[in-house]
Amino acid sequence: MHHDLQVSIAKELLRQLDEDENVDAGVQYRMPTNSYACPELADKEWTSFFREHPQLIGLSGDLPEPGSFFTIDDFGIPVLATRDKQGEFHAFLNACPHRGARVANEQRGKRPVFVCPFHSWSFSPKGDLLAVPEMDHFGAIDKACHGLVALPTIERDGLLWVHPQPDGKLNIDELLGPLADELASHNIARLSFAADKTIDMRLNWKLANDTFGETYHFAKLHKDTLGQTFYGSNLAYEEMGQNHRFVTARKSIDVLRDQPESEWQLLEAALVIYYLFPNIQLVVDDNRVTLVRIYPDKENPGRSVTRINIYFDPEYIEKMDALADDLKITAETVYDSDRLGKPLTPDAVLEVFSSTVEEEDYVMGEHQQKTAQSGLLSHSIFGRNEAPLHHFHNNFRSALGMAPLERVE
Ligand code: FES
Ligand SMILES: [Fe+2]
Repeated sequence: MHHDLQVSIAKELLRQLDEDENVDAGVQYRMPTNSYACPELADKEWTSFFREHPQLIGLSGDLPEPGSFFTIDDFGIPVLATRDKQGEFHAFLNACPHRGARVANEQRGKRPVFVCPFHSWSFSPKGDLLAVPEMDHFGAIDKACHGLVALPTIERDGLLWVHPQPDGKLNIDELLGPLADELASHNIARLSFAADKTIDMRLNWKLANDTFGETYHFAKLHKDTLGQTFYGSNLAYEEMGQNHRFVTARKSIDVLRDQPESEWQLLEAALVIYYLFPNIQLVVDDNRVTLVRIYPDKENPGRSVTRINIYFDPEYIEKMDALADDLKITAETVYDSDRLGKPLTPDAVLEVFSSTVEEEDYVMGEHQQKTAQSGLLSHSIFGRNEAPLHHFHNNFRSALGMAPLERVE
C-alpha cells in the first residue's frame, strides 16, 4: 500500500479516536430479516454468486511448487487445482472422464500424476489423459479428447481465480477495479500456506459475512478477546465498486503519535481487511495474510461454511522457529501477545478465529438466524456506523435486480 495512503488512513483513525467518532454513512437502513432465511433468494444467490460467478479459491502459496495440488468442493462443483511442471496454475472439474469419479480426494498435496481410484485412468497436472489400463479390453479411446474438463483460471499477484463454468469469463481488472494495484502492493505471492480451519455453523452465509461489517461490537461482544487488541468503534472505510477496504485501529496505533509520519507503518497500527465480492474477506497483516471464504449451503439457507486459510512470509516463519520455545506465543496468550506486538504462530492466529469469530461472532449469527427464521422480527436496523453492512447488502440486492435497502427516515 502506498505510504501516502497509509498515512492518510492512520490520520483518519487517530482523528476518529481523538474526536470520539466512527465512520458515518449518514443514513440508517432497514434490513428485511427474511433475506437470511428465504429459500428462493438463497437459490438465486447460489446461481448468481457461486455457480456463475468467478471464485477466489486460494493464494499462490497453496500451490508452492510444480506438482502441488489442492481440492475444493464449496460452490457446487468439485475442483482440482494444480501447478504443472512449468509452474502454471490450472483448475479442472475433479471428475474422471471415464465415469465421473474424483481423481483426487486429499485436501492438498504433491503429485506428478493423478490416478483415478476407480479404474486407474491417469492424468497429468495439465489435465491430459496419460494412460487407460487394458485398452485392448476397453476399446479404443482418443486420449487427446478425454482429458479433465478445464475451468478458466488466472493467477495474478498471488491470487488464484477460477470460473466455475468451463466457458465462463474471468476479467480480474473488472472484478478488482482500483483495488488491483493495491492488492499487488502487498506482495501476497511470497506467502506460504501455514494452517487452516473450517467453521460450519447454523447461520446464513450473509450473516457470517456481516461479522466483518462493523466495529461497533468490538469492545462489547469481544471485550475479553479481540477487544483487548483493538479500540473498536472506529473505521477508515472505502468502497471500490463491489469491493471495499475496512481498516480499524489497533491499540498500538498510539505509538504513531511519537513517530515521524515518514516511519508510520499502517499494518502495525491497524487491522486491514479487503472485502472482495461476493464472499471473500482478505485480512492483510505485516507478515501474514488470512483468506476467509464464506459459502452458503445450497439446500439450507440457515447454514454456512467458512474456510479460513492462513499464509505466512516464509522468512518470518524461520525467524519465529529460531525463537527459544519460551518466547513462542501460544494460543492461551494470544491476545496479550498481539497487543504487545509479539510474533503470532499460525496456531495462535487460528485461536483468534476460534475464540473471536467462532465462539462469539457466529454465536450471535446463530441467534440472528433463529430470529430470521421465526418470521416475527420483520427487519433489523443497520446504523450509520455500520457502513460496510449497507454496502454488502445493497451490492447483493443490486446484483440480483432487487431494490436497495429501505432508508430509515
Ligand atoms: S471412473 Fe475414473 S477410471 Fe473409471
Ligand atoms: Fe466480531
